[in-house]
Amino acid sequence: MTDEPTAQRHALLEGTGVHDVPVPLIGLGTWPLWGAECEDAVASALEAGYRHLDTAENYANEDAVGRAVAASGIPREEVFVTSKFNRRWHGGTDLVRAALEAGLERAGLEHFDLYLVHWPNPDQGRYVQACASLAELVGTGLIRSWGVSNFTPEHLQAVLDAGLVPAVNQVYCEPRDAQRPVQDANLLAGVLTAAYTPLGRGSGLLAEPAIAGIADRTGHTPAQVVLRWHVQQGRIAIPKSADPRRQRENLDVFSFALTPEDMAAIDALDVSVAGGASSHRADPERFGH
Ligand SMILES: NC(=O)c1ccc[n+]([C@@H]2O[C@H](COP(=O)([O-])OP(=O)(O)OC[C@H]3O[C@@H](n4cnc5c(N)ncnc54)[C@H](OP(=O)(O)O)[C@@H]3O)[C@@H](O)[C@H]2O)c1
Repeated sequence: MTDEPTAQRHALLEGTGVHDVPVPLIGLGTWPLWGAECEDAVASALEAGYRHLDTAENYANEDAVGRAVAASGIPREEVFVTSKFNRRWHGGTDLVRAALEAGLERAGLEHFDLYLVHWPNPDQGRYVQACASLAELVGTGLIRSWGVSNFTPEHLQAVLDAGLVPAVNQVYCEPRDAQRPVQDANLLAGVLTAAYTPLGRGSGLLAEPAIAGIADRTGHTPAQVVLRWHVQQGRIAIPKSADPRRQRENLDVFSFALTPEDMAAIDALDVSVAGGASSHRADPERFGH
C-alpha cells in the first residue's frame, strides 16, 4: 500500500495553525529506560531510522535521550523529540516555562518539538491553565507544538472551552482497549491521537489468536500487525524496545497494509466497547504525577 512511504511516516499535526509540525507516526518509547541503557537504545533506534523519540521529566531520562541525539550527528531538525512535565508545574506561563527550561537543560536541547501536560491531575484544577501557558510558550521557540496526555473527553472539552486546541492527546491505546470515546473526541476536535503502550506491554496481546493468525498469513510479526493497525488508523504509536532487532521490526510497518477484514478482526478485540475495563490503564481522574 505504501507508494508514498515518506508521506505515510508523517502526519501533519493539525491544530490551531501553530501546530503545523510534521511528526513521524512511529516513535521510540523510552520508559522505563534510563542512563546508559537508554542512551544505547536511542542510539540504535536513530541508527535504525527512528526520527521520533518520546521522553518525559518523570522518566528521568531526558538527559540520556538528549545525549544520544547529540552523539548521533543527525541534524537536530530531523529528529522529533516529545517531552512531558509533571503536576507541580501546572500553572501560569512562568511556572510552565521553568519546567520547560529545566527539561531542556537536562536534555541539552534548545527546543522540544512537542511538549505535553503528562496527566491532567484534576484534583489540582490547573490543567487548563497549564495548557494556556503551553500555547503561550510556542512563540518563544522553546517548543514547536504542545499537547496533552491521559486527557479524557471531559478534560479535553474543558481545554477546548478555553479556546485552546492541543496538537496531540497521548493516551493508552492498544487493540483490547482502544479508548474509542477518547479517540472520537480527539478526532472531532482536530487533535491527533498518540498511542502509548501500543503493544500492550508484555500482557499477552501479541499472542492473541486474531493477531497471531494475521501475522502468520501476511508473513509479518504480531508486533508489526498491531503497529500497522495503529498507523493505518492515523495514530502515532510509540512502542518501547531496547532491542535493536525489535526496534527495526517495529519501524518496518510502512511496506504492507492490512485488509479491511484484518482491521475489523483487530478492532473486535476491544473489550472496552462492551463496557469491559482494562486491567492495565490508570484512571486519569485518580492517578497522575
Ligand atoms: N503518557 C503516558 O502517561 C505514558 C504512559 C506509559 C508509557 N508511555 C510511553 O509509551 C511508551 C511505550 O509504552 P510501554 O512501554 O508501556 O509499552 P509497549 O511499547 O506496548 O511495550 C513495551 C514492551 O514490549 C516489548 N516489545 C517491543 N517491541 C516488541 C516486539 N517487536 N516484539 C515483542 N515484544 C516487543 C518491549 O521489550 P524489549 O524492550 O525487550 O523489546 C517491552 O517489554 C513508553 O516507553 C513511554 O515512552 C507514556
